[in-house]
Amino acid sequence: MSRNTLIKIASLILMVVSFIAYIAGASAFPIASENLLPWSVWFLIAVIVNIVLWTSVMRLLTFSLAVIWFYAFVAGLVPESSTAVNLTELDWSDPDAVAEQGALVFNGKGQCSACHTVDTTAPPGRCPDLTDIGVNAATRVPGMDAKAYLIESMYQPANFLVPGYGKIMPEVWKAPIALSKLEIEAVIAYLQSQGGEIDPTPFEEPIDRADIGTTAAALPPLLTGDPELGKKVFVDAACISCHAVTGIESPAAGETTNEDFEVVTAPDLSEIAAFNDMRYLEESILVPGAQIVSGYGAVTVRAKGTTFQGTLVSQDEEKIVVRTKTADGVEEEHTILLSEIDDEPIEELTDLEAKGYLTLTLTPADANAPVTGQLVSETDEVVTLKVGDEARTLSKTDVKSLMTVVTFDGDEIVGEHVSGTTDDDEIVLVVDGSEEIFDTFDLEEATLTRASGKRLHVTSPMPENFPILLSVADLTNLLSFLSTLTGATAEAVPEETGDTPAE
Ligand code: HEC
Ligand code: HEC
Repeated sequence: MSRNTLIKIASLILMVVSFIAYIAGASAFPIASENLLPWSVWFLIAVIVNIVLWTSVMRLLTFSLAVIWFYAFVAGLVPESSTAVNLTELDWSDPDAVAEQGALVFNGKGQCSACHTVDTTAPPGRCPDLTDIGVNAATRVPGMDAKAYLIESMYQPANFLVPGYGKIMPEVWKAPIALSKLEIEAVIAYLQSQGGEIDPTPFEEPIDRADIGTTAAALPPLLTGDPELGKKVFVDAACISCHAVTGIESPAAGETTNEDFEVVTAPDLSEIAAFNDMRYLEESILVPGAQIVSGYGAVTVRAKGTTFQGTLVSQDEEKIVVRTKTADGVEEEHTILLSEIDDEPIEELTDLEAKGYLTLTLTPADANAPVTGQLVSETDEVVTLKVGDEARTLSKTDVKSLMTVVTFDGDEIVGEHVSGTTDDDEIVLVVDGSEEIFDTFDLEEATLTRASGKRLHVTSPMPENFPILLSVADLTNLLSFLSTLTGATAEAVPEETGDTPAE
């Protein structure tokens, strides 16, 4: 064989091999795309050599392969749309590659990046920033490791809410996001890669995917209201006094279209329907306090002997920031450590979470010293506290409590409560180590303190009387109007330049 023939055959083999390698790699798209450049270069070299050396038939073959390659290459350059990510398997031998697949889900189909940032310099929003979530995940719920916490965050986000944030995150395994188990596994690997270690241990989904059907059927029927009439309600009911919407003129500062309330800073609603369902919007109007947008809640807190009343700007595990306004309108921000909040006595150990308790101090009946911890969860019977690094579950009934009794003579006596209330004939207390019996006819007052705790009670500054003011027709029209606020409205109004819709 001549040298020329050898070169011809070698370049033919190179062309075919690099072509197959390229196509095989590209079909695994979007995962392997960046490793394909060397194959493209080899392929192009082989194509040129082949065209120069070979004659008609082989040239035609070369040309055909080059055309196919070109199409594959161009397709690879087009950024994949969110639906194009369709994971069929995860290669756990390379956890970092799994995390990369997770990043695609995060920024694409999962719509996570519509709400979450992974950037500490981003302005705080309605959803937590996920920088270092790989490590933080292990600290959120006592006794729950990082992976278990992230699994719960994906399947049952409402089980634990990050302090300061509302129940906004959708169950991403359900429609419309509808992530598959593989996609959730990948996204969890991606989250763990943010400052933490990727844990490849397989897990069982804590849900039943058959539920998707039943919940979809339970969604409210299509809205029948008229958005144009709803827009009028939005202005007439004075929503516009507090909430800006691109394309609707807001009243001048300090003015309101309704005299019944004070105008406060409220979230811009121009894109409210982009990430929230109708249930949430309806609830926002009918029960404003149910979920309070972080950064807008009104708070009253006693700390260091002073009462701070204002807006809860931010909250984390150590401190809160409260913005107050002095009588002459000057705004001040106060950073208050949670440890500086004054303890309040608690008479009834019910609905502690709803009442805003962050910490609790109580003495179990069989203990001598009180236990103090962060309130994690509660049922009718027990409370779970995070004490140091461990979780302790304590009974709400087997609690030593103090009673303060005031006699008609004005004497005030405090003792450990043994039995009796003002409804009984007598009250028994242990005072200074010895039992004392009080006849309830001699007592003016008796207050039982079952525990004490630090409390941060946040309420919505949004008026609560809309359910009374708005007729059902108004509300239906209003909701239809709100459902059009997806950010696309901003595009439809070209003369507005201030607000650009998010992606
Ligand atoms: C509509 C907005 C929204 C979307 C979409 C969303 N989240 Fe969330 N997410 C939230 C909010 C609000 C919270 C805080 C309240 C809570 O704990 O549920 C949160 C909490 C979390 C937490 C706990 C954070 C912490 O600091 O402990 C994780 C992890 C998380 N989301 C991941 C995701 C991932 C991954 C996706 C996409 C698959 C996603 N989220 C989609 C709004 C959203
Ligand atoms: C006095 C001012 C005020 C008025 C009037 C008012 N709101 Fe609000 N609204 C707020 C504040 C403050 C918040 C944020 C706190 C919260 O979540 O409750 C809010 C929250 C909301 C939210 C949730 C926003 C989000 O980003 O999740 C919606 C939706 C909403 N309002 C709709 C309305 C509608 C519709 C009206 C008229 C019927 C209205 N509001 C009237 C102050 C107001």
